Amino acid sequence: MPVSNTTANSPFKTKANEYRQRVDLALAHWLPKENSTPTHLHAAMRYAVIGGGGKRVRPILVYAAGHTVGIAAQQLDGIASALEIIHAYSLIHDDLPAMDDDDLRRGRPTCHKAYDEATAILAGDALQALAFEIICNDKAMQADASTRIRLIQELTVASGSLGMAGGQAVDLAAVGKSLTLTELEEMHRLKTGALIRASVRMGAINSNECDQQILSSLDQYSQYVGLAFQVQDDILDVISDTDTLGKPQGSDIARNKPTFPELMGLEASQKYALELHQQALDSLQDFDQRADTLRQLSAYIVERRN
Ligand code: IPE
Ligand code: IPE
Ligand code: MG
Ligand code: MG
Ligand code: MG
Repeated sequence: MPVSNTTANSPFKTKANEYRQRVDLALAHWLPKENSTPTHLHAAMRYAVIGGGGKRVRPILVYAAGHTVGIAAQQLDGIASALEIIHAYSLIHDDLPAMDDDDLRRGRPTCHKAYDEATAILAGDALQALAFEIICNDKAMQADASTRIRLIQELTVASGSLGMAGGQAVDLAAVGKSLTLTELEEMHRLKTGALIRASVRMGAINSNECDQQILSSLDQYSQYVGLAFQVQDDILDVISDTDTLGKPQGSDIARNKPTFPELMGLEASQKYALELHQQALDSLQDFDQRADTLRQLSAYIVERRN
């Protein structure tokens, strides 16, 4: 078993907070100011990204993967922001009445409750575009045009119909149906796994150290972590409470969503999350101590309470 992350000042907590602060500064810089027109839309965009209780898991993955192959954090602020912005957009749309119809997100009213439905839809649209603009324009990234195109390609595929948006479509189509374990895993691989995988890949690919073999091990790591992440999300929907989660507990059950606890039972799901975590660690066995934050992040993902 890995170093536990539960002690107050574990190395992981310190590192994760350092990365959270970095990405929060970068996000505040890239998001349009609230006093610039259209002010209502810009306020909704900032509301959905900044100031709530987001864990910033995808940015942390970007920085930690980059560190593993020798990329400095300053070069990764733009990529980390782009991933968090796509994620925030996906949450705005996920909470809409036409999708999960949830009122609480990150401990606050969802974007369509704090603003209105049309503004929330547009905020999601505009955030999606902003993520790609950042990858095009971020100077600190020190990437040439072909690297930027590669990064954009990673993010488009991970966000589109063969990634997150496709997974959301499968999720909605599966309501009230019973899926096989393979079908459920495929849905999770798209819905949540694709952006988590992209976070790791995009953090690492702009490094000379990152050859095919390293990328493929990182890729394997990210796929186990991505699945573990959504298994834990499903578990928390059952065992946690709304205050801790910052989003409504029991939402999956109320909407008749196919989930791991529903399909395999709670205990088996918890065991499965730990197995996936171990497989994530095994994927990194040839890496040096620079991969420790990735290792600890995998532990955090299955230990987390929100
Ligand atoms: C929630 O993601 C939605 C899923 C993909 C399961 P997070 O649990 O990362 O949400 P925040 O960013 O911390 O709010
Ligand atoms: C959301 O999955 C996944 C995306 C936003 C792409 P969920 O619907 O399970 O996320 P929560 O539980 O509302 O955060
Ligand atoms: Mg959903
Ligand atoms: Mg939801
Ligand atoms: Mg969920």
